[in-house]
Amino acid sequence: MSNRFRLGGDLNVNRLGFGAMRLPSKDGMGGPARDPEAGRAVLRRAVELGVDHVDTADFYFSAGGVVRANTLIREALHPYPSDLVIATKVGPVIGPDGLSHGAPGDMRGFVEANLDGLGVDRLDLVYLRIGAMTPPHGESLAERFEALAALREEGLIRHLGLSNVDTGHLAQARAIAPVTAVQNHAAQGDEADLLAACEESGIAFVPFFPVGGGRELDDERLAKVAARHRATVPQIGLARLLASSPVALAIPGTGSLSHLEDNMAAAAIVLTDEDLADLS
Ligand SMILES: NC(=O)c1ccc[n+]([C@@H]2O[C@H](COP(=O)([O-])OP(=O)(O)OC[C@H]3O[C@@H](n4cnc5c(N)ncnc54)[C@H](OP(=O)(O)O)[C@@H]3O)[C@@H](O)[C@H]2O)c1
Repeated sequence: MSNRFRLGGDLNVNRLGFGAMRLPSKDGMGGPARDPEAGRAVLRRAVELGVDHVDTADFYFSAGGVVRANTLIREALHPYPSDLVIATKVGPVIGPDGLSHGAPGDMRGFVEANLDGLGVDRLDLVYLRIGAMTPPHGESLAERFEALAALREEGLIRHLGLSNVDTGHLAQARAIAPVTAVQNHAAQGDEADLLAACEESGIAFVPFFPVGGGRELDDERLAKVAARHRATVPQIGLARLLASSPVALAIPGTGSLSHLEDNMAAAAIVLTDEDLADLS
């Protein structure tokens, strides 16, 4: 299975990428700030180690917006390597009262905030992120996705994706514009139909929380295979994800250089048939 994938048919990326949510704060959104220089160092090292797909959002920031993921990415990596793909998400608004969702008319402002934050004229991949932690079955995304499709037609976005969706949402969106990637919760457990739909159409499947989302991946099967490979449990979690499908992309998030090195080393782990049987 190739370790690379063509996002949208034209953006050739390493299937092992990087998620930037943990850089501004350990809890991802709104928590105490992490050291911004450490975050910039992690981003630079990630690119040195072969990351060419970074996942971010304008709403990834520490308490009070003091440290922001997009700013760290721009400061660390701009001018960007020509092959670096930066994917971002729009839809949610993080305010004093918690999470709410933008209306179709808000999409332009969201896209412009990402263009400004990242310092680019066009965004490589923009996911429409809907719902809370599970897909909001039956909720229409049509008007919001149409607004993003219009911004794509305008040249502000190269590719569109969806996050936290079901197969119905995917079909609804695809009737409006091409969908390049789907980003859903890694441990949802009922994603087989969605993954099959992605595989059938060459759409990337990019699970979030690939190494547990801040909770230790507590799984005897992973631990058994990790011991066999003298690897860590998160490494085997990533190797399993990459082995699960040629359209599966991993975006582990970390603010730690040593965790980054560990995560990137997972690409070299070749799972045997015995491993895969033990993990199934
Ligand atoms: N679409 C969505 O709704 C959505 C939601 C959540 C996240 N995301 C995206 O998905 C990316 C990945 O998700 P995530 O960062 O929340 O979860 P994750 O990658 O599963 O886990 C990150 C957490 O695990 C720790 N960690 C990372 N590598 C480790 C290792 N090798 N050993 C031990 N601990 C390790 C990190 O702590 P340290 O920082 O201390 O290493 C951090 O607390 C995010 O960065 C974001 O880009 C999208």
